[in-house]
Amino acid sequence: MGNSREVVVTGGGTGIGYAVAAAFAKAGDRVTISGRRETVLTEAATLLGARPVVFDAADPVAVEAALEELPDRVDVLVNNAGGNTDFLDGGDEDGLAGFAAAFERNLKSNVVSAALVTHALRDRLAEDARIVTIGSIAAHTGAGSYGAAKAAVEAWNVSVAREFGPRGITANVVAPGLIGETEFFHGKLSDRRREWLIGNTMNKRPGTVEDVAAVVTFLTSPAAGHVTGQVVHVNGGAHPGK
Ligand SMILES: NC(=O)c1ccc[n+]([C@@H]2O[C@H](COP(=O)([O-])OP(=O)(O)OC[C@H]3O[C@@H](n4cnc5c(N)ncnc54)[C@H](OP(=O)(O)O)[C@@H]3O)[C@@H](O)[C@H]2O)c1
Repeated sequence: MGNSREVVVTGGGTGIGYAVAAAFAKAGDRVTISGRRETVLTEAATLLGARPVVFDAADPVAVEAALEELPDRVDVLVNNAGGNTDFLDGGDEDGLAGFAAAFERNLKSNVVSAALVTHALRDRLAEDARIVTIGSIAAHTGAGSYGAAKAAVEAWNVSVAREFGPRGITANVVAPGLIGETEFFHGKLSDRRREWLIGNTMNKRPGTVEDVAAVVTFLTSPAAGHVTGQVVHVNGGAHPGK
């Protein structure tokens, strides 16, 4: 892989994705970040010294159109774009049709997005490339359609690891618990709920974006070549992963 790798981080304009992108940039890698909000993305890219490519990772037409701006060779792909769409869109429309629409938004945002971008870049992945997808503790503790989507990420990851394994490519999920300094909750996390989540950890603190980036850094290193098809939990013990 050499010292300067081509890294793509979806949703790299804020939160965990930004911290992950910063870790790669600091290591001297060439970093491309994506997101839907152009201003947020270009400002982040300037700060990071990264390349911004604006596209919706959950929209096949947009992903296809973005391909010409994405690197021809990809050494590291971090499928980080996602979030609980119920926080943003309400998720409480009337009737079954509304319920289905909200459910599908979470599936699209979290699992279809990762699968789409990985599929679109499959022929550009270098020998020994690394794929990391950001899952969630919610896959194990429940959280409606968001938890279901993150659980699907874990199942999908196993098939990706199997498919690309013969090329020396690894695929793993990093599953964070509560992480501060992100836009994830869109102001919808009450103090009481936050304290409860922190109380569930063994180290009695929220995670940081750097906690997650450190694990992504390890999984994408040459040293981690035999770690694949796994879920690595970063949650302070709030859910003891197996
Ligand atoms: N924070 C936590 O406590 C926590 C815990 C467990 C898992 N996670 C997971 O961590 C990942 C990163 O989230 P975060 O916590 O860092 O929150 P965040 O600050 O909201 O970051 C999510 C980023 O992804 C981008 N994004 C979302 N949907 C996208 C799409 N369809 N196409 C392209 N970009 C998209 C957003 O930018 P645009 O809106 O501009 O597109 C944003 O920059 C998510 O997968 C989330 O589910 C977070």
